[in-house]
Amino acid sequence: MAQGLTSAVYIAASILFILSLGGLSHQESARRGNLFGIAGMAIAIVATLLAFTPTSYALVLGVMAVGGAAGSALAVRVEMTAMPQLVAILHSFVGLAAVLVGFGSFLDPGSTFVGAEKIVHDIEIFLGVLIGAVTFTGSVAAFGKLQGILHSRPLMLPGRHLINLAIGIGCLWLGVLFVGADSPAAGLWPLLIMTGLAFIFGLHMVLAIGGADMPVVISMLNSYSGWAAAATGFMLANDLLIVTGALVGSSGAILSYIMCRAMNRRFLSVILGGFGGEASTGGGPTIEGEAVAVSTEETVQLLSEAKSVVIVPGYGMAVAHAQHPVSELVKTLKARGVETRFAIHPVAGRMPGHMNVLLAEARVPYDIVLEMDEINSDLPETDVVLVIGANDIVNPAAQEVPDSPIAGMPVLEVWKAQTTIILKRSMATGYAGVDNPLFYRENSRMLFGDAKESISAVLAAL
Ligand code: TAP
Repeated sequence: MAQGLTSAVYIAASILFILSLGGLSHQESARRGNLFGIAGMAIAIVATLLAFTPTSYALVLGVMAVGGAAGSALAVRVEMTAMPQLVAILHSFVGLAAVLVGFGSFLDPGSTFVGAEKIVHDIEIFLGVLIGAVTFTGSVAAFGKLQGILHSRPLMLPGRHLINLAIGIGCLWLGVLFVGADSPAAGLWPLLIMTGLAFIFGLHMVLAIGGADMPVVISMLNSYSGWAAAATGFMLANDLLIVTGALVGSSGAILSYIMCRAMNRRFLSVILGGFGGEASTGGGPTIEGEAVAVSTEETVQLLSEAKSVVIVPGYGMAVAHAQHPVSELVKTLKARGVETRFAIHPVAGRMPGHMNVLLAEARVPYDIVLEMDEINSDLPETDVVLVIGANDIVNPAAQEVPDSPIAGMPVLEVWKAQTTIILKRSMATGYAGVDNPLFYRENSRMLFGDAKESISAVLAAL
């Protein structure tokens, strides 16, 4: 394919990717955004196959068919609750690809780079492998934490900041050796050692982050995967990969910033495991009072007398697949003239927008789904708050216990409502592993059981 035509198709694909990102920023346009993304990627793949004639089309198409079939089978089977893990493991593939392309590019016997061009190419390889390796092990650790294979508590190694600093200095020194090497053999060992160090850094960085701060990690790894793709684009001299990687990298960086603001955290402090601030690892709240269990009938009674109801969904609603009965409950309450709204915490669930996606799936109207900042001030005037499978996002310890792992995180102040009914299966803690004093408040009631079953029973009785 002619160079000019390839560039024109690449520009068209880039525009489609930008439209896709724009579409994904609103629920109403998200479906359209996805279609733009799919179209952009389809024409990008076709144009790349035609522009860079591969040695064997059969091999490339065969590999694509295997990868595509595996990806489709996984995507069809994956539960909505396992989506964050899937995203984390996909990020790890991008990181690993950058590492492999970097080594392939360095060991390529047909490489013709000399002089200043070689130095620039070597820097591209070194940075590409570095970012790719950190993304790879960081994403694998994030997968482990989200899947429950690894504990969500932060790993606090003694002298962890010194370890990070030593790895940083070591990588800088190895970079100088790599770029200055006068033969491939002399350059290979600094590249290999740096890759090992970057693997350790990625792992250490994510393991040192506590469960409550995982949203920042996920968006940060999303950003890293974009920069790793951009670095791969530089190594392969592919403009579209550079642009696409930069789009993912910068949108992931913006998302990390939004997550940090939502959680009242400093980015550096999160990614370096409490650097520049006190790393809070323990500090459980003092529990006073007794938890009071309620029955379905008592819950129905409370809801029947209420004029205003706020529903706070959390990760447990996703686990229980309770969004459809919850949507039915809202219809029933509204039909009875009860003002019913949703309160969405920015880090509810396990991925950005998790609750919005579930509620959209259950066809809940967007205008009754409010963000935390919009609804927190209305909670004192609310008759009943239904907390459905949420825990950390409604934990008053975030405001009351300064050395708690969730200290400083803004939460939905549901305890200010007249009555708060919490639907969960036990007294277990949430993802951050912090006890919740909300359950023991005088105006709190616990409706124990699976959220879907509990809501269905309430619905039937209403
Ligand atoms: P969590 O704090 O994880 O609490 C969920 C609660 O749901 C649990 O306490 C659990 O209690 C209950 N539950 C589980 N299955 C249930 C079922 N079938 N029926 C009823 N209840 C059920 O959730 P949250 O309040 O949404 O907070 C999210 C947490 O995840 C935060 O710490 C956040 O930082 C972290 N996180 C968020 C993200 C993003 S981007 N959103 C990413 C990674 C981590 P029982 O076991 O007693 O039922």
